[in-house]
Order: sequence, then structure tokens, then C-alpha cells
Amino acid sequence: MQEIKFYSGEKLPLEQHKARIVQKINLVPIERRLEALYEGGFNTFQLNTRDVFLDMLTDSGTNAMSDNQLASMMHADDAYAGSQSFIRLQKAVEDVLGKKYLLPVHQGRAAENLISVAYVKKGSLVPMNYHFTTAMAHITDKGGQIAELLYDEAYVVNSSHPFKGNMNIEKLEEVIIQKGAKNIPFIRMEASTNLIGGQPFSMQNLRDVRAIADKYQIRLVLDCSLLGENAFLILEREEEFKDSDMGTVIKAMTDLADLCYFSARKLSSSRGGGIATNSIEIYRELEALVPLYEGFLTYGGMSVREIEAMAVGLYETLDDSIIRQSPSFIKYLVEELDKKGIPVIKPAGVLGVHLDAMQICSHIPQSRYPAGSLAAALFLVSGVRGMERGSMSNQRDEYGNETFADMELVRLAIPRRVFTLSQIKYVEDRVTWLYENRGLIGGLKFNYEPPVLRFFMGKLEPVNNWPQKLLAKFKEDFGDSL
Ligand SMILES: Cc1ncc(COP(=O)(O)O)c(C=O)c1O
Repeated sequence: MQEIKFYSGEKLPLEQHKARIVQKINLVPIERRLEALYEGGFNTFQLNTRDVFLDMLTDSGTNAMSDNQLASMMHADDAYAGSQSFIRLQKAVEDVLGKKYLLPVHQGRAAENLISVAYVKKGSLVPMNYHFTTAMAHITDKGGQIAELLYDEAYVVNSSHPFKGNMNIEKLEEVIIQKGAKNIPFIRMEASTNLIGGQPFSMQNLRDVRAIADKYQIRLVLDCSLLGENAFLILEREEEFKDSDMGTVIKAMTDLADLCYFSARKLSSSRGGGIATNSIEIYRELEALVPLYEGFLTYGGMSVREIEAMAVGLYETLDDSIIRQSPSFIKYLVEELDKKGIPVIKPAGVLGVHLDAMQICSHIPQSRYPAGSLAAALFLVSGVRGMERGSMSNQRDEYGNETFADMELVRLAIPRRVFTLSQIKYVEDRVTWLYENRGLIGGLKFNYEPPVLRFFMGKLEPVNNWPQKLLAKFKEDFGDSL
């Protein structure tokens, strides 16, 4: 992989694509942004894109598609059964992920549902490097529990550890011995561990997990949603792979798993999802669930256009100039914020930049959702929509008590090939201003709180008039600038 250097010595991530279709976005006045916050219950999921300037909520389904992906959608083969589009997707999955059986599903969480329906029951325990919200919700919904087994370093914000997503191997074995292998339907490894800041695991760690899975005869499930980025960071950070390539690393990872599943919204910059395996037994165990929950076995709830775009997107995952674009913008922004002393998750990971609300809003207790408050405040002062990844994203326990998150993060997602560097600089500027005025940010409380996945639908309100005070300070400093 070659980095392009500037004669000036400046370290800038250089885009390796040109824009051919663009979408206009609007920066609405701060007064309107405040109204929008009240309308959306201070929950960034509830905002309307009409009011959003830079949408950094997620990279899920928001990566820019390539010309080849769009072109492929034109020759999609519309058929309920036996579509040629599905045959092309199967081939792409076999070529890229090295798995010959594919079960299509409408998105990543649908795969999580089917896997949980098939394997999880009351009393099951699923060890994982770290949970993802929907993965955990599906497991607990079927009566199972999860065990998160990261090393302590994973929770250190200001770290230089290259692989914070590594599974704690010693703890994994302890948990298996304690719980009994028969109660552990599978071990789940998540590539580029989303909720701790898009942090990868190493190939060596995955090999160690495989060895434990073999020792105790437990299935190993790999969440491949962010596989490309994890592979890219293995190429960059793991000595053994420094002269390797994306295809080799990706196959080496998927070879270690019995079952791979993915959100194609992330993995292949398209829509949809899939479950892939080389085991005919696993395929048979899941097969009947696809028509039951998703759709026939050759479309799984997806349109054939999505399927075509997914196939092309999978092949594009092998091109490191495409995969590196988002991580290199993230690295740039992390380094610029870090130079100013603004607490961000380090080292820079994938998916987005993660602001550490626990430190930035240390005056707000976890019961008042510091990350949710910071996300709302940032939207107010910039029109940038980030996502709360902290206690608001957690479920209450069975007695209705809050389960406070290990980390309170605001994720500013940087989808692939969507933003320009000047937009990234704008984010840096407004985050800096907000950091300098962080004392004005106050907490939030729920006024509508659904019991499951409350962060999606919940509505909150500020504990006092802090948003008005923040707006007044913004006006003082920026005058009539948007
Ligand atoms: C690691 C991971 N797994 C699973 C999912 C769920 O996928 P989907 O949103 O397609 O349902 C996501 C979504 O963001 C994810 O990041």
C-alpha cells in the first residue's frame, strides 16, 4: 500500500476518486436547529435530514456508491426464485470471503436474528470481544446473555495500542470453563469493534480465539460488517502482513470463522446483508429461517438491484485505495483534535471519530447522558449530526435500573467517499469551539423511554435552559454566521 506524500511535507489525506453525482445540503440557522432539537426530543436519530448539514450519524447505508455499483443495478435480474443477480452475489461472496454457501437477509440485524433463533436459548451465554446493540438485543431477546471479554487497554481513551478490539483469551477460556461449553452456542468476534471506537483485532488474536473454539468445540461467528477496515488496519499495523494485500488478509480472517455474517450497508457500500459459511450443517440449520423471516432464498428481503450493487461492492472491498479513504480522514481529524487537547479515542480507528464525552462533559453524570447531551450540543452549534454511543444506547437491566456504559462516546461517522476535507475542517472548527464552551452543555432526561433499543425511538428534554445559553454564546462569537 502506497501513501501519497506532499512536497510541502503536509500530511493530508488525498482523495482517490472524483465526484460525478452530488447532493445539495443546507446549513440552516442555529435558531431552526434548536427548534429541530426540541421536535426530535434531543435525540439525533429523531432529526430530519432537512435540518442536518453534515450527516455523521452513521456509515450504514450512507457510503458513496461507485459508478460500477450504480451501473450494475441496471442489469439486475428480477425473479422471485433463481435470480441471476443472486448467482452473481454468491460468486462474489465465494471470491472475496471464501465461503460457498450464502443466505441472503435484508440487513445485518436480520442475520443476528436468524443466528440467535437457531442457536440461542434461555441459559445460553455468548462470549464476544464487545457487543453491538442489535447483536446483543437479539441474543437477550431469545433468553441468552452476553459476556464482553476485551483487555483493559480497550477502555483506555488515550492509547496507542494497535489492536484494542482483541478478545481477552485468558478470560474467554475462564468463561467457557465456568459456564460449560454446552451452554455456549457460539463465540462472536466483531471486526473493527464498533462501540469502542471502531478498533480492530489482530489476525493473531483471531487465530487464538479459533484455537479456543476448536479446543471446546464451539462455533466461531465473525461479524464482518466492518471487515474491510479491520483488514486494512491489519495490513498497516501487523508486522506479518506488511507486504500482503487486502484479498489475502480478508480470506485469512474469514477462513478462521465457521460462520460469517454482515451488514452490506457497511461492508459493500450498498444495502442488505448475508450469512456465509462453508459448513453444510450450518447452512441447513439456518436455511428454513430465511423464507420464514426474510424472503425466498435467492433474495432474502432485498431488491435485486441491491444484490447487484452488493456483489460489485464486495469486490471493491479488495481495493485498499477505496477502503483507506474513510480511515485516513478519521486519522486526520483525530490528530488535529488531539493536537488541541480535545479527548478523542486513540489510536484513530475506523467508521468515525469518537469524542470522549466522559471527559468533555465530566460535569454531567452518566444518569444525565453526557454523550447524548454532547451530540445534541454539537448539532446545535454546527448542524453536524453525530450519534450517542454511551449509556443511552444501553438497555436497563431486568429490574429497570440503568446499566451505565463503560464509555460515553459521540461518534462522528465518516462514510466512505462522502465528505470533502474542508467539511472535515469545519467539523474540527466547531468541535473546538464547543470544547472551549463545554461548561455550558447540560444534561438530558427521558420523557418517552421505550424498553427496547430506546436510543432509536426515545425522546428527551434538557434538564434546564442550557441549549438557550449555548445558542446565546454562539451568537456572541459568530454573529450572524450560520
Ligand atoms: C458491527 C455491526 N454489526 C451489525 C450491525 C447491524 O447491521 P444493520 O444496521 O445492517 O442491521 C451493525 C450496524 O451498524 C454493525 O456496525
